[in-house]
Order: sequence, then structure tokens, then C-alpha cells
Amino acid sequence: MGGAALTAHEGAACGKVILLGEHAVVWGVPALAAGISLGATAIVEPADSAVSSLEIEGASSELPPQEAAAIQIALEALSTACGVTCPVRARVTLAIPVRAGLGSSAAIAVALARALFGRAGTTPSHEMLIDAASAWERVFHGNPSGIDVAAAVLGGVIHFERARGARSIPLSCPLSICIGLSGRRPSTRAMVDQVAQFASRKGGMGEQIFAEIRELVSAAEQALATGDLRALGKLMDMNHALLSSLSVSTDDLDGMCTAARRAGALGAKLTGAGGGGCVIALAPGCEQAVLEAWQGLGFPGLHATIA
Ligand code: MEV
Repeated sequence: MGGAALTAHEGAACGKVILLGEHAVVWGVPALAAGISLGATAIVEPADSAVSSLEIEGASSELPPQEAAAIQIALEALSTACGVTCPVRARVTLAIPVRAGLGSSAAIAVALARALFGRAGTTPSHEMLIDAASAWERVFHGNPSGIDVAAAVLGGVIHFERARGARSIPLSCPLSICIGLSGRRPSTRAMVDQVAQFASRKGGMGEQIFAEIRELVSAAEQALATGDLRALGKLMDMNHALLSSLSVSTDDLDGMCTAARRAGALGAKLTGAGGGGCVIALAPGCEQAVLEAWQGLGFPGLHATIA
């Protein structure tokens, strides 16, 4: 490792919103996601003890003990995947809330992977970053589709399909997205398991819903290509309705979507695993009105421009 041994290495990665296709993506349906400028930054230094450690600023003290144990396992898996065999002291700063559906876990993994590869003296390809960060994600999410990691690595807007991976989608105009935080923090794994149970209980209904989501995703890609934001908003509304029928929405999320539409948003939906977490609203020109409507309901929000 030579001179790299004594140096601190840094990495950063973006959080994400899923524009359309969450949950169905686990079952092989394509999905559209976008990196947001808020995310994670990581610093990795040589450890002064025999064991690697990770401190997540602002979040470490919130974590239950079993999650702290999983983080240790995930850090070892990630370090090995990045070719770092000596113990490290890692620190992460997060600009997005954890367990809110904004890809905090993937952002942490990719930021750490960039720093760890730097420590190993390697310039990683996108594939190397995705493979390494996926080793971390598997510890927490069991069988993730990989969309969060792909969005954190690539940024911008991506088309993601489990069997084929990710490709970047050029935008014909920037997207102005408001993100509303419900404050509830569900486990992605629990929500994915819940959808699997729904799909197995309800005969072919799960497959039918996934097929409809596939159509919406395909139409949304067209809308993005032509800059038809009205169509994109309607497709987001329809995706939310299908997610509700998969039982992953909540009264709060439904209320936030309705409030956003009333405030002028072109469309609104839950984003990520649901059961709490966040909603997104496509809100060009009415960002303030949407954020105020959520505030009136007691939910904080933030604004992201995706270009
Ligand atoms: C989580 O951001 C999105 C889900 O589709 C799970 C996954 O893709 O692994 C709910």
C-alpha cells in the first residue's frame, strides 16, 4: 500500500428517489430512479485498534444494537470487496435521513467503497463499486434489487432492471422534485417481504399489478425523453395507486400525495419501500406551495432539482 497507508481517503455518493417502479423492480420489472444531490460522505483512515470501526455522524447513537452488529459485518464485507485487509476507522456524514426511502444505506456503502478503494490504491469502475457496495447491502436487505446502489454510483436518472443492470437516461429538461418525510421509518426488508406475501396470497394479482407498473415505467421513460412533465406526473399518480393496492402506502403517505396535488403538483407518489418513509411530488413552479402544504400537515420536506 506504500504511502497510501498513512493517508485519509474520502468518498461521496448521492441518495436517490425512485421515480417509478419500486417493489416491482425486485420482481424483475424495470424501474426509474434519480440521484439527488444530498447523500453521504465518508473518510477512511488507518485504525488505531485491531478492529475496524464505523461512526455515522448523527445516526450511530440512534441505531439499535442488532443494527450496530450488522454494520460491523457489512463493513468487513465491504472492506474485503475493496481489497482492504488492514483495520480502518471510518466516519460517515449523512445529509439524508436513514430509513426514509432515500437510499441512505446505499449512499453510505458507495461513499465508503470509494474511500476504501482509494485506500487500496485502486481506481474502481462503476461495476467494481456496484459489486462492493452490494456486499454491504446484502447484509441489511437480504435480496435487494440493486437499484439503490446503481443510483448512488451513477447519479442522474437511471433505468434499472435487475437482470440487465443500469443505464443512464438523458433528460430533456430538469425535474423539480419535492420530497416529503412522513417521519415513520420502516424496514425495507420487512416491506419487501410483505409484498412477497401479498403476491403469493392473492393468486395472480401481484403479477398483474407488476405488469401494469411495467407499462407505466415504459410510458414514463417516453415522457422523460420528450419532456412531457404532465404525462410523467399522471404516471406517478397511477404508480402510487398501484403501490397502494400492494398495501405499501399509509394514510399519511396518501394524505401527503393528495395535499401535493392540491397545491399544484403534476403528480405525487410514495418513493422507496413505503410503509412510511417519503413521498415525492413533481412540482415545477409550485415547490413552495407543496412544501407549505406538507408543513401544514406536520411533515417536513425538501426540494431537489434533478438535471
Ligand atoms: C427500495 O429503495 C426499493 C425496493 O424496490 C427494494 C429494492 O429494490 O431492493 C422497495
